[in-house]
Amino acid sequence: MSLAKELVSLMRDSWDRRIGHDYLGWMNDRVESDEQMWETGSRDLRALLAYFEREGILDELLQGHVLDVGCGVGRILGPASLLFEKASGTDISPSAIARAADLLSSRENVSLEQGDGQSLSSYGDASIDFVYSFGVLCNMPVDCCAGYLREINRVLKPGSHASLQVFLGKCQPTLRQDTVAFRSFLEENFEAGMQLCGFSLLAADDLLVDADAPDDGWLRPRICVVRKTADAACRTDELAEQLYPGGEEDADESWPGSQTEYLLSVKRALEFHDQGKKREAHDALAFALEQYKDPEPRLKQLLAELKEELTL
Ligand SMILES: C[S@@+](CC[C@H](N)C(=O)[O-])C[C@H]1O[C@@H](n2cnc3c(N)ncnc32)[C@H](O)[C@@H]1O
Repeated sequence: MSLAKELVSLMRDSWDRRIGHDYLGWMNDRVESDEQMWETGSRDLRALLAYFEREGILDELLQGHVLDVGCGVGRILGPASLLFEKASGTDISPSAIARAADLLSSRENVSLEQGDGQSLSSYGDASIDFVYSFGVLCNMPVDCCAGYLREINRVLKPGSHASLQVFLGKCQPTLRQDTVAFRSFLEENFEAGMQLCGFSLLAADDLLVDADAPDDGWLRPRICVVRKTADAACRTDELAEQLYPGGEEDADESWPGSQTEYLLSVKRALEFHDQGKKREAHDALAFALEQYKDPEPRLKQLLAELKEELTL
């Protein structure tokens, strides 16, 4: 089952727009320099590898070929390339891949590709020793996430592992066209979905983060480690239904745009504003208000004030 072309274009264009605007803000923490980004990348890589360290099998894992699904600008792939024998990254956004190629140009063991946004078709069956993905699978439409889980199973060698950052908690309704909203799975649905997809779930560790979502208990970031025990024996739509019973609805014309994108951009703008960084605050706020049709009036006012102060 392939996704509608419009949905793939929407994912590519929206992520390209975000990353082109502010790649430091749109990876996973709103950092302000490449150095800080590498620090958070190393921290998150440690979380992705913690299970293997605990089990005493990390050294063996590092001998292999790792694939980062949704690598962005290489925030985690950079640190990973210093540990693994060979490190590949794929992402839907051409801007992300161009930036990653620039940032990681000196790493000879790194290869990057702009993927088609729904498959890992550049990678052969059973060709990869370890897959990880962070801040990607749970921000995309569930149908797309299910397709990637099957693809991850396909490219992994039998018996090898994937470490996936996902959200487990209550299942909240999200719209298919929202390319950044947090999707959260019920733990039992996720575990059953992994089984359908030929994986056994070995660990679902809590990940401690500076959560950007309201802490009302429904969104729990986890690092889930799975082992490929069989080929996926399900269709993508069956897996999506298992993960998110009832599926996602399509947005209609009254949809104002992604509230998650809006809230994250406003948060970034207000942080800059508090630090007296008016130009950056202006740009982040302009970005937020450009996309979202139902912004708070006080933010429109703040943008007008910033414009005037900067004599734009
Ligand atoms: C929040 S960023 C995280 C990037 C990186 N994993 C990290 O932690 O720094 C989400 C990334 O997922 C990528 N992405 C979104 N949808 C995708 C898709 N359908 N296929 C591949 N990559 C996708 C975006 O382009 C973006 O680089």
